[in-house]
Amino acid sequence: MKDIITLAIESSCDETACAILKNGRQVLANVISTQIDIHKKFGGVVPEVASRKHIENIDIVVEEALEKAGMKFSDISHIAVTYGPGLVGALLVGLSYAKSLAFSLGIPLVGVNHIEGHLSANYIEHEDLVPPFVTLIVSGGHTHLVEVKDYGDYEILGKTKDDASGEAFDKIARAMGLGYPGGPIVDRLAKEGDPNAIDFPRACIHEEGYDFSFSGLKSSVLNYLNSMKMKEKEIVAEDVCASFQAAVVDVLSYKAIKATKDKGYTRLTLSGGVAANSALRDTLKTRAELEGIDLKYPPMVLCTDNAAMIGCAGYYRYINGRRDDMYLNAVPNLKI
Ligand code: KG4
Ligand code: ZN
Repeated sequence: MKDIITLAIESSCDETACAILKNGRQVLANVISTQIDIHKKFGGVVPEVASRKHIENIDIVVEEALEKAGMKFSDISHIAVTYGPGLVGALLVGLSYAKSLAFSLGIPLVGVNHIEGHLSANYIEHEDLVPPFVTLIVSGGHTHLVEVKDYGDYEILGKTKDDASGEAFDKIARAMGLGYPGGPIVDRLAKEGDPNAIDFPRACIHEEGYDFSFSGLKSSVLNYLNSMKMKEKEIVAEDVCASFQAAVVDVLSYKAIKATKDKGYTRLTLSGGVAANSALRDTLKTRAELEGIDLKYPPMVLCTDNAAMIGCAGYYRYINGRRDDMYLNAVPNLKI
């Protein structure tokens, strides 16, 4: 059978990325141009700036991906592109580019849900991974517990009622003046701190169901910081980071294990930017082992935004017959 070559484009937030995959799981090129250094100055992603940078970078990343893969446009079987969720202006850059490419090459276009992309990162890393399983998707914009019944067949078991877990990391880091993005900085500082120093709340942990809430935890950390400042007491950033992170990790891992067991599965995957968190990976691994659950997570480069994961999700949509036309639009709040 002829190999299926996917050219994938991702531009939903502040990474302009292009990847080329063979038969969905073999990554031939995975080029990511990050804008973090630009947005750092503003303490977060500035949507208008992100769109403009995507326009400047998209041609470059596509050409680089083709070169790395040793491919020409004529070798590509179909285009996969993120069409939501994300920042509308940012999404439109990748989507318009992908549509033009598919149209001019006369090959199919397949729109991909960014969240589905995140969970698909595990298929790339783990050759033997096949549905069904439960997955925990934790990123800057999303916190979802999903039952993956088959490729493209999902049931949402729970999600955050307010802030996403990565957003909580970013907001806490910002309040402490630590920089952007907050997750990797908090992760690093937490290694030097005491996770039991401050007793931050574990919202929803004893609630029925699998929903999450992180805004109360965020307020609790902000209140703690304010009260320490009022009392002119020293704030030990390492302890605050470690205690905050422990609260997030505790709830995420507890609910993920519970959902996996309740649904009768022995396989759990983790994905999204927050899946790069060392405490989350370690805690979940330990708790999964104790319960006889096989835990899989992607390497760091496939945790945060990239186009390889979009290509993998796009490949399965493609072989399942999904085709999009030139009317495909960006959907900023697209649901999985
Ligand atoms: O998946 P991603 O690149 O973008 C979205 O789809 O949102 O995730 C970015 C998020 C940011 O909130 C960032 O702070 C968080 O992932 N993140 C981490 C770590 N590395 C990235 N959070 C906790 N610990 C980390 N090591
Ligand atoms: Zn993402």
